[in-house]
Amino acid sequence: MRIFGIEYAPLLVPLERRKQTWAVFVWIGSFFFMGPIGIFGLLYMFFFTRFYFIPLLYLAWYIADIKTPETGGRRWTWVQKWSMWKDYASYFPVKLVKEAELDPKFNYFIGSHPHGILCSGAFCNFATEGTNVSQVFPGITFTLTTLNCQFVMPFYREFFMTSGAVTASKKSIDYVLGSSRGGKAVVLVVGGAPESLNTHPNLDNITLILKPRKDYPNMPYFLSAHLVPSFSFGENEVYDQVDNPHGSRLRRFQDYLQKMIGLAPVIIKGRGIFQYSFGIIPYRRPITTVVGKAIHVERTGNPTEEEVNELHSKYMEELRALFDRHKNKYYPSHIKLNII
Ligand SMILES: *[C@@H]1O[C@H](CO)[C@@H](O)[C@H](O)[C@H]1NC(C)=O
Ligand SMILES: *[C@@H]1O[C@H](CO)[C@@H](O)[C@H](O)[C@H]1NC(C)=O
Repeated sequence: MRIFGIEYAPLLVPLERRKQTWAVFVWIGSFFFMGPIGIFGLLYMFFFTRFYFIPLLYLAWYIADIKTPETGGRRWTWVQKWSMWKDYASYFPVKLVKEAELDPKFNYFIGSHPHGILCSGAFCNFATEGTNVSQVFPGITFTLTTLNCQFVMPFYREFFMTSGAVTASKKSIDYVLGSSRGGKAVVLVVGGAPESLNTHPNLDNITLILKPRKDYPNMPYFLSAHLVPSFSFGENEVYDQVDNPHGSRLRRFQDYLQKMIGLAPVIIKGRGIFQYSFGIIPYRRPITTVVGKAIHVERTGNPTEEEVNELHSKYMEELRALFDRHKNKYYPSHIKLNII
């Protein structure tokens, strides 16, 4: 139904689909609004009500808890199992496909590509039970790693941490992988925020930022974990983004802000709850995350630069091979992977 150029959802959408849209809205809404509303509420209580001690108590908690995102996080398995996350998965739908088992005798370091706008696939598959990851890979606990700024906003940080996510720092990853000799999988969205600026649907090639990221294999525990490539087909298609070609004024401004604040200031174009023409909700487009076979890594104490380079090349090779094995199922055949 189109009125004044806006495409509305039909009035009689089945309840099933309404619940799915709601789940996705809660996820994106918490990301954008939970922090600001929290700050506003705390300030209001402090200045204008007799409950001024509540913000003070929260502040004390916040300070006491400041290191948690870097020291293993705070997973709440019962939140990960919410049926809301199953609705979230059914919305797109998000699917999880494995090429091989992951033996819980080892730890794993999973590279997740591409970043897309908001990592909808990686979040659903590895930070919730939306696609039953603990049944797909029995005996493995998945930990999503992400930017520090996800753990700054009041209340949102607590909510987000229930997913088991931790910061993507060396210390934090060492903490998770070092706490156990097996059964842990750390997921790193390797391209990070800069890659999200390249995210546009239906491009002829998908650009991954990987070559400058060689520092990661230098992490001590990285070398005690096997490397696993994974690719989320469709991740780049769930949002449109305002055009920002390299060299444009907008892109220069975005690159500058991204370096300053860490987050990439993408201008997303999605849909709303009741209409399809504009908004911050991603489109219903399928995402399939394929988890590849593990590349076995022998622990060598202090690796030489040569060994690190070799591992890095091997990883890129396996990632490309994984993409080529599956791409025809999800993309037109001319789409290429462009690793920079
Ligand atoms: C997850 O597991 C439940 C129960 O075992 C099953 O009903 C459901 O279909 C599974 N979901 C997916 C996405 O595989
Ligand atoms: C990738 O695609 C863009 C636009 O479709 C094009 O400008 C660019 O040259 C392509 N790069 C490669 C390596 O194919």
